[in-house]
Amino acid sequence: MKIIPGPASKQLGEKVAEFLGVEAVPLFFKTYPDGESYVRLEGKVQNEEVAIVQTTSPPQDTRLIQLALIADAAKRHGAKKVTAVVPYLAYARQDRVFLQGEAISIETVAHMLKVAGIDSLITVNVHQAKVLAKFPFPAKTISAISLLAEYFKQKGFEKAFALAPDDGALWLAEEAKSVLSGECGYLEKHRDLYTGQITIKKKKLEVRGKTVIIFDDVISTGGTIASAAKIMKETGADKVYAACVHPLLIGDAEKRILESGVEEIVGTDSIQSHVSKVSLAPLISNALKEHKSG
Ligand code: R5P
Repeated sequence: MKIIPGPASKQLGEKVAEFLGVEAVPLFFKTYPDGESYVRLEGKVQNEEVAIVQTTSPPQDTRLIQLALIADAAKRHGAKKVTAVVPYLAYARQDRVFLQGEAISIETVAHMLKVAGIDSLITVNVHQAKVLAKFPFPAKTISAISLLAEYFKQKGFEKAFALAPDDGALWLAEEAKSVLSGECGYLEKHRDLYTGQITIKKKKLEVRGKTVIIFDDVISTGGTIASAAKIMKETGADKVYAACVHPLLIGDAEKRILESGVEEIVGTDSIQSHVSKVSLAPLISNALKEHKSG
């Protein structure tokens, strides 16, 4: 197998290649003055199985096109199988028709990737795993929550309370609990489908005097974590931390979260930023090993 680190995940892709002890195929890329993307493989992929590592955080449309162009280039130059490793899968949250007249964006994206030459896909903590069953090629999601929980355990936060901001994320808190050996629970969140405004209801949870770590798949505007953190502080939590797999951190999200009383935000290199304190490289490497032998 060879790894092609895409422009959006160069560092992570190179780390994965290093973990696996395989070649990272260099890639030249540029953006034309009119905004179009260009890619060129600078290594051989003839008769190889290749894995393209390319996250699709903003600018997501450009990064999706780059991924498609790399897949096309790989197939065109003889790669026998192309796996896309897309840590943050853009459009995954529009996974059904919520309001009359909408598209199911993630299905459209999957079909575009198939046409480009992608044969299978691995992503990390996709919003709803069931959406992958509708992809036109084998697709799976792996979870980085244990790695995030391990980070906190190493910092001495064993027995911390793992909190999910909504019931859909409860399994994330349960996964964290299995590492931290404390308690876990969830809050009840409602999002207005027209305005995007979220409200989280207060709930009685046994967090008084405890350290609470809020686990979520994505931090986008920070509204979810900030509201959950405020509720935890009002309920008597001693310290509140935030952990997420995909730190999109749009606009003033970080400021908003820190102002709500959160001590530290911890994310992964799914999206490289100064909060990326946990690397996905070992997780992705194992998944690719299993994928190859499977
Ligand atoms: C949504 O259900 C996700 O799991 C996250 O809670 C959400 O995307 C976070 O968005 P924001 O940071 O804008 O509240």
